[in-house]
Formats: sequence, structure tokens, C-alpha cells
Amino acid sequence: MRSVDLGTLEDFENGEARQVRVDERVLVVVRIESDVYVLDDRCSHEEFSLALGEVNVATCEIECARHGAMFSLKDGEPMSFPATRPVAHYDVRMVDGRVEVMVP
Ligand code: FES
Repeated sequence: MRSVDLGTLEDFENGEARQVRVDERVLVVVRIESDVYVLDDRCSHEEFSLALGEVNVATCEIECARHGAMFSLKDGEPMSFPATRPVAHYDVRMVDGRVEVMVP
């Protein structure tokens, strides 16, 4: 496991999803207030970018723009159909005001 610097908290708009590439991984990064969440940027229903979907900041979920499945940003678990499998979730830590994601 290693940490990869994604920038500062202010680099990310509150409630906006953004695609970030780390090596061969394609991730979706979402900031909600002072928390940052990182999932694989690929819906588990059919391959589709979650970064194109809307974030629900109240429930801490992201919606797949293709068929509307909701995923928890906290753990990648599917919260609604048609998705039934989770997407990979990555731990995030703050170090001196910078956002670091932990990747294998
Ligand atoms: S591709 Fe995401 S819900 Fe179908």
C-alpha cells in the first residue's frame, strides 16, 4: 500500500465528482466539506464513469448517470438497483492539508 498525493482540499469543489488517474487506475474523487472520498470510477452494473454522475451530499452517495444506481461514497456499496455489487473504495488521509489516497 502506498499513498498518492491528490492535491489540497481546496483543489476539489464541494459536492462535485472528478475523475483522477493514478497510474493505470481511474478513480472518482468527491469532496464533501472537509472529507474526501475515492472510489473506482467504474459503475459495477455496466462499465460507466461515476464521475459523470450527481453527488448527493446529504446521503454521501453518488448516482450513476447511466441507469441511476446509487453508491455509498463511504464504502462503495450499492444503495439501489440496478447495481448489486460494490465498487472499490480507497482510504484517504489528510497530511499537512494535502489529500492522499492509499492505493495497493
Ligand atoms: S451502468 Fe451504472 S447503473 Fe447501469
